Amino acid sequence: MPTLTADPRLQGRAVKRIVYTEEGLAERVHELGEEITRFYPDGELLVLGLLKGSFIFLSDLVRQVQRPLQVDFLVASSYGDATVSSGNVRLLYDPETELEGKHILLVEDIVDTGRTLSRLMDLLQARKPRSLEICALLHKHIATELRYPTRFIGYDAPNEFLVGYGLDHAENFRHLPYIASLQ
Ligand code: IMP
Ligand code: MG
Repeated sequence: MPTLTADPRLQGRAVKRIVYTEEGLAERVHELGEEITRFYPDGELLVLGLLKGSFIFLSDLVRQVQRPLQVDFLVASSYGDATVSSGNVRLLYDPETELEGKHILLVEDIVDTGRTLSRLMDLLQARKPRSLEICALLHKHIATELRYPTRFIGYDAPNEFLVGYGLDHAENFRHLPYIASLQ
């Protein structure tokens, strides 16, 4: 890996440190894939990626799951106050697929307050899936408003602003193959 200041992807921006390396992420995602494979011995599995943050994690994760599955996405928008998540959630893209009777695994990049995720889970639960679980790459475990357990967690993340591997700062840095702290 190039040194941080020399990484041309950073636009000259200094990052504090690399929190999760590309190699470490690959190893952890492989383990999560094994956990998920074991957790679903039968039934139809639909993996729902919450865009945009989950796109890299999801694509790596599904390739580590050794059972049949389908992939779709959700695009959610919180409305109300733009800076603080309002907890009101609206689906901008809603999967075409029938959810009833399927195992649904909702994949999220990072759980911070969990507000958006809680509302999304309410919405998905109403469609009568066979099961409904959350898989988050990172979980900050702070002031969580998540009313559902996070069944699969990649890492308990530090309370710092993280970028890379799908996570952005003002839409930048999603393409970093590692996760770095901006603070
Ligand atoms: P929550 O609804 O408060 O849990 O917010 C979760 C969303 O906030 C995530 O899906 C991310 O888009 C964003 N987010 C929270 N923490 C971070 C971070 O450290 N870096 C980048 N995005 C973050
Ligand atoms: Mg984001």
